[in-house]
Amino acid sequence: MSRDFYYLIKLEYEKRQKDAADRLESRKKELYSKIPRLEEIDNEINLSGIKYSRLILQGNSQDVDAVKKVQEIIDGLKEEKNSLLLSHGYPEDYLEPVYKCPQCRDTGYIESENRIEKCHCYKQLLIEFLYKESGLGPVERGNFSQFDESFFSDEVNVEKYGINISPRENILLIKEKCMEFIENFHKPEQKNLFFSGPAGVGKTYMANCIAEELINRGITVLYMTSPKLFSTINEYKARALKEEEYDDLSYRNIFESELLIIDDLGTEPMSAARYAEFLSLLNARLSRDMSSPCKTIISTNFGIKELYEYYDERVASRIIGAFEIYRFAGDDIRRLKKLGAK
Ligand SMILES: Nc1ncnc2c1ncn2[C@@H]1O[C@H](COP(=O)(O)OP(=O)(O)O)[C@@H](O)[C@H]1O
Ligand SMILES: [Mg+2]
Ligand SMILES: [Zn+2]
Repeated sequence: MSRDFYYLIKLEYEKRQKDAADRLESRKKELYSKIPRLEEIDNEINLSGIKYSRLILQGNSQDVDAVKKVQEIIDGLKEEKNSLLLSHGYPEDYLEPVYKCPQCRDTGYIESENRIEKCHCYKQLLIEFLYKESGLGPVERGNFSQFDESFFSDEVNVEKYGINISPRENILLIKEKCMEFIENFHKPEQKNLFFSGPAGVGKTYMANCIAEELINRGITVLYMTSPKLFSTINEYKARALKEEEYDDLSYRNIFESELLIIDDLGTEPMSAARYAEFLSLLNARLSRDMSSPCKTIISTNFGIKELYEYYDERVASRIIGAFEIYRFAGDDIRRLKKLGAK
C-alpha cells in the first residue's frame, strides 16, 4: 500500500507545481496585453540574465566591471517592472509563482542545512490520502476526544447486560485496552482486536476512534464492512481468472493495509467457499504482522459460540488464538439518542 501512496503523493505535488506554473502563465498573458512594456522588460531581464551567467562562467577578472554593469541593468529593469505593476494596481509579486505551500514551493521537501526534509504540508497530505483511501466516511469517524462514556449505564445488571460489571466500567476498560493497542501497534506480540456485542453499543465507534488515531500517526487504514470485504475478494478472484494482469488496489489493501477493520462480520451472505477465503486472509495478515505491522479489528454481533456455528472450527480457533476478545455491552445508544435521553 505504501508504495502506491508515495506515488500518488508525488503525482499530487507535480500537479500543484504545474498549477502554479499555469497560473503564472495566465497572469503573464493578462498583464502583457494590458502593459506591453512588461513583456519587453521580462525579455530584457532574461537576456541580461544569460549574459550575466556567461560572464560568471568565464570568470575573467577584467570582467568584474562588466558583471557589475549587467547586474545594475537587471536591478534597474526589475525596479521598472515593480513600479509599473504598482502603478497599475498590482502587487509587486504578482508575477511570481503562487504556490500552495511557499515553504517548499510545492515540492514537498525543504532543504535545511544540507539536509533534505519532508515539508509540513507533506505530512498533512499523507494524512488526507490515508483518510481518503481508508474507506471511512466523515460520518463514521469516531474520535477519542469526543468519546462519551455517559451513554453507558453505570448500573450493574447481569441479567440485562450479560456482564458482571456496569457497562460504563466495561467500556472504560475496553477503551484502555484500545489505547494500549495503539501504543503497541508496531509490536508483533500485540494481538488483534475482536469486538463482540449487540447492536448500538459502540463497537464501530470504538474501531473508528482507533482508526482516526492511527491515521494521524501515519498508519494506513482500511475500513470495510464484511459484505463489502467478501464481495471485493470475490470480484477480484472472478476477474483475475479471466485477466492475467488484473490488479485491484482495494483488494490488495485488504492484505496490505497496516490496519484492517472488518465491520459487522456475519452479515455477509453465507457460503462455505468464503470461509476458506476468510481463513487465508487472516493467516496472510498474521504472518505479515511478524515483519511489519498488519493488525486487524473485527466487529460483530456474534459471540464465540456463534463463530463456531456460523463459520467453521478453523476460523473460530484462529480468531480465539490471535485476537483479544472484548465484549461490548449496554443499552442501544442509537435508541437512546432517538428517545432524546441525551
Ligand atoms: N463512546 C461513544 N461516545 C459517543 N458516541 C458513541 C460512543 N459509542 C457509540 N456512540 C454512538 O452510538 C451509536 C451506535 O454506536 P455504534 O458504534 O454504531 O454501535 P455498534 O457498532 O455497536 O452497533 C452511534 O451513533 C455512535 O456514534
Ligand atoms: Mg456497527
Ligand atoms: Zn510544503
